[in-house]
Amino acid sequence: MTDIPVVRPRINSAFKLLMSVHWWMAGIYIPLFIVGTIMSQLERGAPFRNELYDFHKSLGVLSMALLTWRIFLLLKVSWKKYTRRLPKFTPAWIKNVSLHLLLYLFMWAVPIAGFLLSNSFRPDNVKFFGLLLPDLFPQNKAMVDVGRSLHFWLSYTFLAFILLHAIAQWKVVRANWRRLQNFLEVNR
Ligand code: HEM
Ligand code: HEM
Repeated sequence: MTDIPVVRPRINSAFKLLMSVHWWMAGIYIPLFIVGTIMSQLERGAPFRNELYDFHKSLGVLSMALLTWRIFLLLKVSWKKYTRRLPKFTPAWIKNVSLHLLLYLFMWAVPIAGFLLSNSFRPDNVKFFGLLLPDLFPQNKAMVDVGRSLHFWLSYTFLAFILLHAIAQWKVVRANWRRLQNFLEVNR
C-alpha cells in the first residue's frame, strides 16, 4: 500500500483572517506613500494641502488600529501552530520570521514617528477623519526636525523592506506553481 502524504492545512480561519487584514493594510499603505510623498512637496497655502495632510494622518491612524488587531490575530495563529509542534529552526525559517518581525516593527514605528512630528509641531494636530485624537507627544519645536527625519527615513526604509518581502513571496508563489504543474504532469 502506498503511503498517503499527510497534508496539514495552514488555511484555518484565523490565518485566513490574518491574510485578509494583510491585504487591507497593503491597500492602505499604497495611498499613504503616494499622498505622503506628494503633500510634503507642496508649498504652504497650496490648494488641498491641509486636506491631504488630514487624509494622510487619518489613514496612518487607521493602519495603527488594524495593526493592533493583526498582532492579536498573529498571536492566535502562532499559538495554535507552535503549541502543536515547535518550528524547525532552519536558516530559511529564521530569515522569513526575521523579515516579518522587521515589517511589524516598521508598521508600528513609522506612524509613531508621524505622531512625533505632528504633535511636536502643534498640539491637537491629528484627527481621525474629523475626530480630534489625544496627543502622544508634547509640543516641542526642538523635536520637529527629529520627527521629520525619523518619519522620512523610517518610511522609505519600510518601503525597501516591503519590496524585498514582495520579491521573496513572489518567488515562493512561482516555485509552488511550478511544483503543482510538475505534479499534475507526472500524474496525468
Ligand atoms: C504593503 C506592505 C506589506 C507588508 C507590511 C507585508 C507584511 C507581511 C507580513 C508581516 C506577513 C506575515 C503574515 C502576517 O503576519 O500578516 C506577510 C505575509 C505574506 N505576504 Fe506580505 N506584506 C506586504 C505586502 C505584500 C505584497 C505586495 C505581497 C505580494 C507578493 C505580499 C505577499 C505575502 C504573502 C503571499 C504572505 C503569506 C506568507 C505565508 O504564507 O507565510 N505581501 N506579509
Ligand atoms: C504606516 C503609516 C505611514 C506611512 C507609510 C507614512 C508615509 C509617509 C511618507 C512616505 C511621507 C513623505 C515623506 C517625504 O517625502 O518627506 C510622509 C509624510 C508625512 N507624514 Fe506620514 N506616514 C504614515 C503615517 C503617518 C501618521 C500616523 C502621521 C501623523 C499622525 C503622519 C504624518 C506625516 C506628516 C506630517 C508628513 C509630512 C512631512 C513633511 O511635511 O515634511 N504620517 N509620510
